[in-house]
Order: sequence, then C-alpha cells, then structure tokens
Amino acid sequence: MVKALIIYGTRNGATADTSELIAESLRQEGFEVKVINAKNEKIQSVDEYELVIVGSGIQMGRWTNESEKYLENFQQELSQRKLAIFVSSGAAHPLSEGEEKTREIQDARTNYLEQKAAKYNQKPIALGLFGGVYDFNKMSWILRRTMSSLKPQLEEAGLKETEPGRYDTRDFDAIHSWAKKVAQLTSI
Ligand SMILES: Cc1cc2nc3c(=O)[nH]c(=O)nc-3n(C[C@H](O)[C@H](O)[C@H](O)COP(=O)(O)O)c2cc1C
Repeated sequence: MVKALIIYGTRNGATADTSELIAESLRQEGFEVKVINAKNEKIQSVDEYELVIVGSGIQMGRWTNESEKYLENFQQELSQRKLAIFVSSGAAHPLSEGEEKTREIQDARTNYLEQKAAKYNQKPIALGLFGGVYDFNKMSWILRRTMSSLKPQLEEAGLKETEPGRYDTRDFDAIHSWAKKVAQLTSI
C-alpha cells in the first residue's frame, strides 16, 4: 500500500477540510494516508512516505508559517520523493471578469505555488489552487468591517451562504479530480 502524508496549515479551517477531502480521494485509490495539522503535530521524518502533500491557507498573500516550515526544513527529503503542493485561496475564484480574472488566477498560481516550490528547490508532481472560505462570523469586528465590501461582491458572483455569514468558494469536484491525478502520478 502506498503511504501518503498530508501536512497542512490553516487559519480559518478551509485547508483542514480540503486536506481531509484529498485524503478521502487518495484512500479510495488504495493509499494509506496520514493527515496532520502542522501547528499541532510535529513529525521528525517523512522517510516512510512515498507521497507528501503540503497545503496552506493564504491570508494577505502569505502561507501559514508552520506549513512553510515543512517545505524549508525537509527540503532534502522532499526532493527525493513525490511532492504535491496546494493552497486555499480567494484568488482561485476571483470576483473579477475576463482578462483580469485570468491574470489573477495566474498570479496566484505563480506567487503561491510555483515560486514557493522554486524557493525550496522542489519540483512538485502537481500544484493545486483551490478556493477557500470567507466566514464573517469568525472575523474580528475590525476585519469584518475592512472586508464588508466583499460580501455583496460574493453575492453578486452568485455565491450562496452555506450558513449565515459563511461563503465557500471551493469546487469539491476539482479537489477530488486533483487528488486522483496526484494518485496516478505517484504510481508512475
Ligand atoms: C483576512 C483575509 C485575508 C485574505 N487574503 C487573501 C489573499 O491575500 N489572497 C488570497 O488568494 N486569498 C485571501 N483570502 C482568502 C483565504 O485564502 C480563504 O479564506 C482561505 O479559506 C484561507 O484558508 P484557511 O481557511 O485554511 O485559513 C483572505 C481571507 C481573509 C479572511
């Protein structure tokens, strides 16, 4: 059985759920998968895993420190096995249209994924740019005020609240397909 490790960093929870979805898809492909929250659980070695997936939520253009630390500290080991990287990012589903939308998606892919892989000398088998969650209930009042203009834009873009004040921009089928692709590429 192929052993896989998913290490994630999250501030608001979306990357935790996305990691579990990826794990579920990999298990359906016969993988044995361990999922860890980089903030709460530390591991000393990735040697036993054939596939490692590192994920992070993006806030103000930044990964979480704890998941990025894994890319930094395990550079050597990660370069010797199959690595995939993903982020949960508002920019995966920009609220703009046309060329600007295309540019925002490409910029997010470049800044949050390609450059991060290059920084730590990695050549991942797959890069995943997934949507995320805006939960106005969990924001501090100052953040809620700062981001208040976003709410009508999310509504206008056709996003429905999953519960009052919570918008989820993820495409669950895309996450599932990405995980299946990662499974195939690991087995090559
Ligand atoms: C305060 C705040 C700042 C954000 N900044 C960005 C950003 O700079 N780029 C982006 O693509 N998404 C941004 N987002 C959207 C997040 O990436 C999205 O909420 C995602 O779900 C975060 O992952 P997490 O829930 O695992 O922490 C931001 C969200 C919040 C609440």
